[in-house]
Amino acid sequence: MSEQTGATAARPTNGAGTRNPYLPMPARVIEVITETPTIKTFRVVLEDEQLMRDFTFQPGQVGQLSMFGVGESTFVINSPPTRKEYLQFSVMRAGENTTALHSLSAGDTVGVRAPLGNCFPYDDMKGKDIVFIGGGIGMAPLRTLLLFMLDNRKDYGKIRLLYGARSPQDMAFSAELPDWLGRADLECTLTIDREAEGWQHKVGLIPNVLLEMHPDPKNCVAITCGPPIMIKFTLQALEKLNFAPEQIYTTLEKRMKCGIGICGRCNIGNKYVCIDGPVFSMAELNAMPNEL
Ligand SMILES: Cc1cc2nc3c(=O)[nH]c(=O)nc-3n(C[C@H](O)[C@H](O)[C@H](O)COP(=O)(O)OP(=O)(O)OC[C@H]3O[C@@H](n4cnc5c(N)ncnc54)[C@H](O)[C@@H]3O)c2cc1C
Ligand code: FES
Repeated sequence: MSEQTGATAARPTNGAGTRNPYLPMPARVIEVITETPTIKTFRVVLEDEQLMRDFTFQPGQVGQLSMFGVGESTFVINSPPTRKEYLQFSVMRAGENTTALHSLSAGDTVGVRAPLGNCFPYDDMKGKDIVFIGGGIGMAPLRTLLLFMLDNRKDYGKIRLLYGARSPQDMAFSAELPDWLGRADLECTLTIDREAEGWQHKVGLIPNVLLEMHPDPKNCVAITCGPPIMIKFTLQALEKLNFAPEQIYTTLEKRMKCGIGICGRCNIGNKYVCIDGPVFSMAELNAMPNEL
């Protein structure tokens, strides 16, 4: 594991070492993008300009977004640390807080506690081929690492992205897809579950398309995130392709409360998803009790 992973990388400073870690930083929404009928992307800047300038994080780390008087929930910071103009969060409507977040417009204020959690071991991945496998909103954590790697392109081998959604309308980040598809240094494959009029890419479930792509596991790392059922069959496909558990990373979405290893809300065995995760290798997950 590289030095950026694990709890030590994750000590929540809220961008300022002495700050109360429970205190949200006020942030201004500068742009809202409607991605799909259920997903909106929010670009925010911390209202304290100095905090915004000093804010650092690693790909894979998360933040807690709060709606005052409603609640707080966890989202991955899906803009990469190499692009610092704003912090980006993509929010799928699930319940009370995410519904309230969906009502935000540019100019509104939201609370942010970040960065929290560990990150992808991107240093250990240097010189390796990378296969990203994302499903639905699971593309959010992959986006941050994908863009980070594209911004540091020479450090990595062949990069492939397989991104799937139920239908073209359910595909998030659609404004960026033409760029990803057109890049010579990224092999991007899109798939939807069933035929749809005008769709010019793959049709088929992600694990089946992955088997067709047949990535070579030699010197390769697979990073996957998506709904539990997709993850289950994607892991089986990766096993068939001879990827070892140490070569596979995913991020867990176990519910969090404090986000700083104190309340005990997010533990699996003796690991806390909020500080030991949310990024884990399959080898680490296999060694943990099956409590998900
Ligand atoms: C590390 C981490 C990263 C995440 N990143 C993202 C992200 O980038 N984008 C995104 O849209 N969502 C993400 N989530 C999930 C998000 O935090 C929940 O959807 C959100 O907390 C729901 O809040 P709510 O008040 O709207 O819904 P609630 O009223 O709390 O719940 C509504 C429904 O969603 C389910 N739910 C709530 N929290 C979770 C959870 N953590 N995992 C699975 N199901 C849950 C509940 O069981 C319930 O069925 C992440 C969660 C974690 C732990
Ligand atoms: S959310 Fe409180 S310990 Fe992890």
